[in-house]
Amino acid sequence: MGKIKKIAVLTSGGDAPGMNAALRAIVRKSINENIKVMGVLRGYEGLINNEFIPLSSKSVGNIIQRGGTILKTARSERFRTKEGRKIAYENLLKNKCDALIVIGGDGTFTGARIFIEEHNFPIVGIPGTIDNDLYGTDMTIGFDTALNTVIEAVDKIRDTAASHERIFFIEVMGRDAGFIALRSGIACGAEAVLVPEVHSDLEGLHKRLTSYMARKKTSSIILVAEGDDAGGAFQIKEEMKKFGGEFDMKVTVLGHIQRGGSPTAYDRYIASRLGVSAVDALLDDQRSIMVGIINRKVVNVPFNQTIKHHKELDQELLSVVDILNS
Ligand code: F6P
Repeated sequence: MGKIKKIAVLTSGGDAPGMNAALRAIVRKSINENIKVMGVLRGYEGLINNEFIPLSSKSVGNIIQRGGTILKTARSERFRTKEGRKIAYENLLKNKCDALIVIGGDGTFTGARIFIEEHNFPIVGIPGTIDNDLYGTDMTIGFDTALNTVIEAVDKIRDTAASHERIFFIEVMGRDAGFIALRSGIACGAEAVLVPEVHSDLEGLHKRLTSYMARKKTSSIILVAEGDDAGGAFQIKEEMKKFGGEFDMKVTVLGHIQRGGSPTAYDRYIASRLGVSAVDALLDDQRSIMVGIINRKVVNVPFNQTIKHHKELDQELLSVVDILNS
């Protein structure tokens, strides 16, 4: 491929704190390499609607600390169609872009891979999702901030749980993965963590809570990943009633608060590194990869691998939750 002169960049799927930091890094690194950058608004939807805006070094000033994405984001149904992707390709050519960087999750990369197959257009991906469910990177941008948001909320709930001697089922995000629940569960000292990767035994949980009561531990925090096989937190609370007992049970669904807020130092750091590395990858003629961080080193992972492989939850960490409550 000849020298890249202009790159387009978009954010897609659920927003994640740190996406702006990644954008800033892409723009500033590109300018450093004499490459122009066009931002595409509203993800793949904006690619189809030709919503391109030029980005300068100044236009990404003062955003490293901002949550959300200044490019806005969307989940595009039209990009799932061949016709939609053809229009997107034509718009990239119309705007004289030689390559594209996409910041997003699994769905974003699946769309990118199909697009590359159809149009042979270079795309590099940056993992941006609070769920941390992408194979090929230890952490995704936004995960660390979401964890901190969760533990801050849980600490507050614990105060009231302890005062009223209640059991709280706190539902966290993660789609069909339990990374947020497990990691934040350990960090906030949850009494139990329910994740989709492991069958949830509610009767066993009930027994455990009863034994806690017997030893005068009168309040508990149960973190429930939204994709758990026993259902959401509300459903689990109802199921638990079937096993009897006098527990005073409450539910809190943390919801989209987990997606917002100023990114943590770690998220700003990996976003900045990956933004620079994504441009480097394109300059190195990479066309269909995600840049990730494994053991503190930047790695290039083919989209095929990222999409095909499932990132495994370290289930041994569930026993850490148990041990720390014994
Ligand atoms: O992928 C990020 C995420 O926040 C998931 O944890 C959650 O299941 C989903 O997005 C919610 O998406 P939306 O904001 O479109 O309802």
